[in-house]
Amino acid sequence: MTPNNPPSPAEAPLRPHSFDGIQEYDKRLPNWWLLTFYGAIVFGIVCWLRTQHFAGPDDAAQLRAELARIEAAKFASVSSLDDATLWKMSRNPVVVASGRATFSTTCVGCHLASLRGKDENPQAIGVNLTDQIWIHGGRPMEINSTINTGVPAKGMPTWGPILGPKKITELVAYVLSYHQEGEPVIAAPSTAPAVPAPVAGTPK
Ligand code: HEC
Repeated sequence: MTPNNPPSPAEAPLRPHSFDGIQEYDKRLPNWWLLTFYGAIVFGIVCWLRTQHFAGPDDAAQLRAELARIEAAKFASVSSLDDATLWKMSRNPVVVASGRATFSTTCVGCHLASLRGKDENPQAIGVNLTDQIWIHGGRPMEINSTINTGVPAKGMPTWGPILGPKKITELVAYVLSYHQEGEPVIAAPSTAPAVPAPVAGTPK
């Protein structure tokens, strides 16, 4: 079959094959078509990289983060704090992150960023909070009360009035995040030098 208005051979040469007498022109594909075609390929590659290689947190991770946030908010309304609750808080990433933030501004000076205090650097004032040796008790509620009341005679400040209960429980959770529930607690005496009691009348 020959079209009524055949293009010139320069414009569209005939392809060499012929099927049942039908031949094809070798015409250039229209630009709009090529643009859509290559565009689709580029779009496909971008989508693939975006979803398979540079994807943000997946749904499961987002859900876990959201649940941790809700759980952390619920801890705030716990009426009576106990060991079990503090252990649970120590497994909540939101609570532990808040505790880490307070620790890094308030406690690192003495206990160091590693929490290992004197064990890392003998010059440090604070004791190691990551080992199983505890001077004032290693149960979560005992750690809570040590931080609250401090050990002023040995140089550990009284944090309760300064930080308030929320920040203190977050700090307990942060310290506990270095520990396992049920691990042994070895009682040890304090080796910190006694801080001289302020003499009445001397300016601070
Ligand atoms: C000025 C230095 C100093 C700062 C700041 C400090 N601590 Fe201490 N901390 C000490 C010393 C010293 C001891 C050891 C007390 C003793 O020997 O009885 C101690 C002991 C502790 C203990 C008890 C350890 C045990 O074995 O029973 C905990 C828990 C603790 N600190 C937590 C904290 C937290 C949390 C902070 C921040 C809010 C903090 N400390 C800030 C000096 C400090």
